[in-house]
Amino acid sequence: MDFLFEMNSISAAYGTNMVLQDINFKVTGNDFVGVIGPNGGGKTTLLKVILGLLKPVSGEIVFNNELIQSYSIGYLPQISTGDVNYPVTVTDVVLSGLMMRKNIISRMTQADKRKAGNVISELGLSGLSAATLNELSGGQMQRVFLARAIIGDPKLLLLDEPGNFVDSTFENDFYEKLRELNKRMAILMVSHDVGTISAHIKSFACINRKLHYHPSHEITNDDLLAYGCPIQVLTHGDIPHTVLKTHK
Ligand SMILES: Nc1ncnc2c1ncn2[C@@H]1O[C@H](COP(=O)(O)OP(=O)(O)OP(=O)(O)O)[C@@H](O)[C@H]1O
Ligand SMILES: [Mg+2]
Repeated sequence: MDFLFEMNSISAAYGTNMVLQDINFKVTGNDFVGVIGPNGGGKTTLLKVILGLLKPVSGEIVFNNELIQSYSIGYLPQISTGDVNYPVTVTDVVLSGLMMRKNIISRMTQADKRKAGNVISELGLSGLSAATLNELSGGQMQRVFLARAIIGDPKLLLLDEPGNFVDSTFENDFYEKLRELNKRMAILMVSHDVGTISAHIKSFACINRKLHYHPSHEITNDDLLAYGCPIQVLTHGDIPHTVLKTHK
């Protein structure tokens, strides 16, 4: 599936607060887009518009038919470990990733449960399927939410700050897993950690009310300034460390 979706002149608002303005954006093939921008810049809103959770005030989104028919979009929402202190099991959370394509009263089938088992094991969570979320580490919880996002075999995977969970021990595993998934699905990943993600993504979208797509995994401070995308770039280790100051 080469073409996935295209946004044409999309604007979106909450009441009178115009959050996205005249967005033109196309995602094809197995792109891996890092979505960056300042707090409140509209990153989560962009994902909501793609998912159909927020109706744009103007413009249109055109989806590949196959994507619509299979409801083939996986979503890992912006959450932090503090939000998920529920006594629900890993299997229940992963299975809930199939709910949007089932009607509310339909039961989970044996096939669904097998699928959950497969994805749980693919993400290295075997042995934890009956554990409850509040018993997991941040990295394990992150993989549970990733399992939930991919259980429906999506062609497009939307990740909203998955790094919120991770400590650096799990970071490499997580990106390695995304690299494997990217062979069979396009990924849009919102992140503040430009330094870390640039080693893993293929292109950038900078969002600060407007969107600028940058078709390379390398992005310079000058690019960010030109795009009106004032963000902080903080990296450590061998990668050069840059701090961009906020500007008007
Ligand atoms: N449900 C909502 N109702 C009203 N305003 C909202 C709602 N959600 C977001 N906003 C506003 O829309 C703007 C964009 O928010 P959004 O959540 O898309 O930003 P973001 O780029 O994801 O920020 P962050 O990096 O903090 O997650 C902000 O000004 C925010 O206050
Ligand atoms: Mg957000």
